[in-house]
Amino acid sequence: MKTVIFYYTGTGNSLWSAKLLAEGLDGAKLRPMKNADALAAGDAEAVGFVFPVHVWGIPVPVMQFIEKLSLRPRVYLFALAVNAGQVSRTLVQLRGVLAGRGLKLSAGFSIILPSNYIPWGGPGPAARQNARFASSRAKIAEAAACIASGQDGPIEMGPWWQRIVFTAIYKMTFKQVHKMDKDFWSDDQCNSCNVCVQVCPARNIELKEGKPVWRHHCEQCLACIQWCPQESIQFGKKTRAYERYHHPEISLKDMMV
Ligand SMILES: Cc1cc2nc3c(=O)[nH]c(=O)nc-3n(C[C@H](O)[C@H](O)[C@H](O)COP(=O)(O)O)c2cc1C
Ligand code: SF4
Ligand code: SF4
Repeated sequence: MKTVIFYYTGTGNSLWSAKLLAEGLDGAKLRPMKNADALAAGDAEAVGFVFPVHVWGIPVPVMQFIEKLSLRPRVYLFALAVNAGQVSRTLVQLRGVLAGRGLKLSAGFSIILPSNYIPWGGPGPAARQNARFASSRAKIAEAAACIASGQDGPIEMGPWWQRIVFTAIYKMTFKQVHKMDKDFWSDDQCNSCNVCVQVCPARNIELKEGKPVWRHHCEQCLACIQWCPQESIQFGKKTRAYERYHHPEISLKDMMV
């Protein structure tokens, strides 16, 4: 089955998951969603979406990408929603978005990896991170087997209370995301290296007099704060104390594709 996997990632967890899934699906091609050339899935018979859960739902740029992507009727669709333990209604939401286009999401798996949401803290102890890497590796192998069979799999979701309470928050915040970069700032460790500019998928950062300026069309992927080599970028008042995170097997070069 000719397979294309589209991925979106801020700190590499989704890219790592997409790479593992592609290895399990012989010859599957990986395409970044941020690349505008990727708007057609060509003659693919199976198409996958791998992306992080943001505020208990589908991130804004992923939603925009999927709405615009041209897909053949009856294509086999699958997804990995990569999260830190609260997938909530994300895959049910994706099933609905695709159903609205007359398409069927055949399988949707929740992959739990360390949290990159630094406004609430670091990624957690190394032992817990390693346990998540190991269990996700096994789960992605299971997902690959299901997808390769072309059969329907699960559409995974969080408990009912999560789906009700957190979906309401998602709906309230969805349109505010672009402006949330007002709380970013850089401290005096900044050495004007330009990494934040290069890693931002939204071209939302420019250097003015050698320091980053955020231009209010942010996607809240947190790549800038997590990849800054100087740990100079902060969000609000607390992040100086929190450990930075990106997936240990994903490099800055991988992120620049
Ligand atoms: C803005 C934002 C919102 C997030 N919301 C959730 C969430 O609702 N549930 C959850 O489990 N993890 C949440 N996370 C954590 C990420 O989904 C998780 O760390 C994911 O693995 C990051 O993937 P990436 O490295 O590919 O960007 C959030 C992260 C960000 C940046
Ligand atoms: S990545 Fe960090 S050190 Fe480099 S320009 Fe941006 S804020 Fe400054
Ligand atoms: S400004 Fe930072 S958080 Fe916002 S989209 Fe760019 S890299 Fe992501």
